[in-house]
Amino acid sequence: MSGHDPEWTLVEHGFDRARAGYRETVFTVGNGRLGTRGSLEEGHLGALSGTYLAGVYDAHDSPVIDLVNAPDWLHTAVWVDGVRLDPDAAEIVEHERVLDLRTGLLHRSTTFADRAGRCTRLRSVRLASMADRDLCALRVEVTPLGHDAEVVVVAGVDGHRRNLDRLPRYPDGLDLPPQRRWDKWARSTHLDVRELGFAADGTGFLHADTIDRGTRLAFAFAVTAGRAADRSTDLVEGERVARRLEFRVPDGETVTVDKLVGIATSRDPGRPDDPGARAAATVAAHAAGGVDGAVRASTEAWAELWRDSELQVVGHEKDALALRFGTYHLLIAANPDDPTVSIGAKSLSGEGYRGHVFWDSEILLLPFYLYTRPETARSLLCYRHHTLPGARALSAENGTRGARYAWEAADTGREECPRWTPDGKDRFWTREEELHVTADVAYAVREYVAVTGDERFLLDAGAEILFETARFWVSRLEERADGSLGLSNVMGPDEFHSHVAENAFTNRLVRWHLTEAVDVHRTLAATAPDRLAGIGDAIGLDPDEVAGWADVADRVRRPVARPDGVIEQFDGYFDRLDVPIESWDENDMPRYPPGYHHFNCEDTKLLKQPDVLMLMYLLPDEYPPETQRANFEYYEARTLHKSSLSPSIHAILGLQVGDPTMAVRYFERSAYVDLDDNQGNTIEGMHIAAAAGTWQIAVHGFGGMRMLGGRLTFAPRLPERWERLRFTVRWRGHPVRVDLGHDESSFVLDASPGTTQGILVDGAEVLLVAGDPVTVPTKH
Ligand code: BGC
Repeated sequence: MSGHDPEWTLVEHGFDRARAGYRETVFTVGNGRLGTRGSLEEGHLGALSGTYLAGVYDAHDSPVIDLVNAPDWLHTAVWVDGVRLDPDAAEIVEHERVLDLRTGLLHRSTTFADRAGRCTRLRSVRLASMADRDLCALRVEVTPLGHDAEVVVVAGVDGHRRNLDRLPRYPDGLDLPPQRRWDKWARSTHLDVRELGFAADGTGFLHADTIDRGTRLAFAFAVTAGRAADRSTDLVEGERVARRLEFRVPDGETVTVDKLVGIATSRDPGRPDDPGARAAATVAAHAAGGVDGAVRASTEAWAELWRDSELQVVGHEKDALALRFGTYHLLIAANPDDPTVSIGAKSLSGEGYRGHVFWDSEILLLPFYLYTRPETARSLLCYRHHTLPGARALSAENGTRGARYAWEAADTGREECPRWTPDGKDRFWTREEELHVTADVAYAVREYVAVTGDERFLLDAGAEILFETARFWVSRLEERADGSLGLSNVMGPDEFHSHVAENAFTNRLVRWHLTEAVDVHRTLAATAPDRLAGIGDAIGLDPDEVAGWADVADRVRRPVARPDGVIEQFDGYFDRLDVPIESWDENDMPRYPPGYHHFNCEDTKLLKQPDVLMLMYLLPDEYPPETQRANFEYYEARTLHKSSLSPSIHAILGLQVGDPTMAVRYFERSAYVDLDDNQGNTIEGMHIAAAAGTWQIAVHGFGGMRMLGGRLTFAPRLPERWERLRFTVRWRGHPVRVDLGHDESSFVLDASPGTTQGILVDGAEVLLVAGDPVTVPTKH
């Protein structure tokens, strides 16, 4: 496994138990349908292994609904002369793992020594197939080094799984080893293993139901050996089913054991057939090709994904790797074939935030898919359509009309955000007050249609979302004494301030949202009156109601602004205490000023993350550069970046207002968050919104690509340490290949002959004619 490309591989040398949980997250393999953490196949004390299936949530036995830790398909144990090869029972002499981002394969090579000093090498390669999302595969190779050995391999599926419940609180400074912490985690049970065993053809199976939701999870597997085993036994023990193979292996020879796993559930949309039969059929379909065939097909599918979404940085190895690493995780987080799921805050790579879906999906994540794989973006937005009934119910429960999206959503769209911190000490107000998520979804619908030109989406799903959510705002707005309309008891994106009134971000987006809904209604009335009438009938909407929205939009309160253009984040913000930020940690992240923490910044001007700046980022046409600059200077100095969503927006806004000095710093804070674990909590899962935010820094920030006035525009300004930045974006159905440098930049429209597309580069018109590269000088 030597000689790996440093810009395409993530490498682990040596086994460090204290870092094992972090490695498990970053080494996750997946295909959008499922994610499997990069745990060692054999497990060890303190391991936090998990396979998560998108959309499989369960509420049984836990205070808040969980993304279920599904049966473990990796489950494999190896004994050599009676000694189990795992980090607890044997000594690790050498250990290396390599995640190949290009192919999605996780390779491993570990040499164990037993007490007598006899060494045995264990190698494996695993994948979650990108070519067939129902398929996973594992190959294990065992080689005795310097001795003949009795080798036993047990390979199967383990249904004994628990979700983590809450992290124990330890006094500051108490540094317990990970295995002790692991023992203390409260556990939730979501699975009831119903059937397990072996079919007549030798295929193993395990069927489990989630206890509360009753979703059937079916796993089928075939275990085969490179050479005939001396003995083969089928094991069914408790919640585990496995095949045990015994071999007599001479010194230096290798035995290979392959496992193909088929996975199906009763919630897979459009597939009503028996999940057990479907899982078995997957294994049967791949039996002839085996693990090699699965590797080949998946690698081909990955090549296609990279062709559309590679971001290539020339001149800086670590940045190049960081961008590919982030892109890899974005690609394994989303499934274009399932319109009923979205992406949780930690993707499918860990249990942080219990797999819940936030505004992250629409605001941070969506642009990546929108510009690289628009069909995936469509699918993600369809999740919001699929969960409209939950959003309607949430609105009704709160005495409002229409549909209100939950701050944290899971499978139904109902609110899943906890009210209290796990220790019961502090109250979260986000579930009641972070209403802006509803406008964020509307914003994403508009972005999708504007970038792709896919107007049909409005008829299929988008218009219903826009109209139902517009209704929510109309009923939630409060009339003020002067006749204007406002919102009290809200929280903007900055979660340090609750119960505020007239949050500039929320009010402005609500106004935008209502205006957009009116526009879309008007357009559809002209272009698709019958379909529009159908939508109106389905949700009881008549044109008079829509006409009223324009008036409501007009009455929504405008924010207060100082003469220099700095917008007040909410009513009374300017009167709060100015507490300076004066200290930064070893990762260059601001520290809380002495005495402050997450829950007591209410009276200060300190921000957790951008709020007014986020607004300016989302509506770039509306704020002139001087206003953006004044606000950037004011709010940047007061922001603690206690959300990993924060640095990317600051990097881009800084570049946009002509202050590139901090952009590289913010890029590193965002790009390295999981690569370097710079917040110390990657063990809980990827900060997937930061990965997408990093993509946005590269494309929207350094590449300066924005949609302005409905046009595709570029204003390249590469950091000095990058020689070139190359990427492809899809604009109105066609790929535009972009190659940016310090002196010149070139663009190619990849479309059928005769197609043209006008773009703006540094304000100048550039006409792209399909197939003809155009090179223009770079101004910045
Ligand atoms: C941030 C939110 C974000 C959530 C999930 C929080 O810390 O403040 O904006 O949606 O994390 O990523």
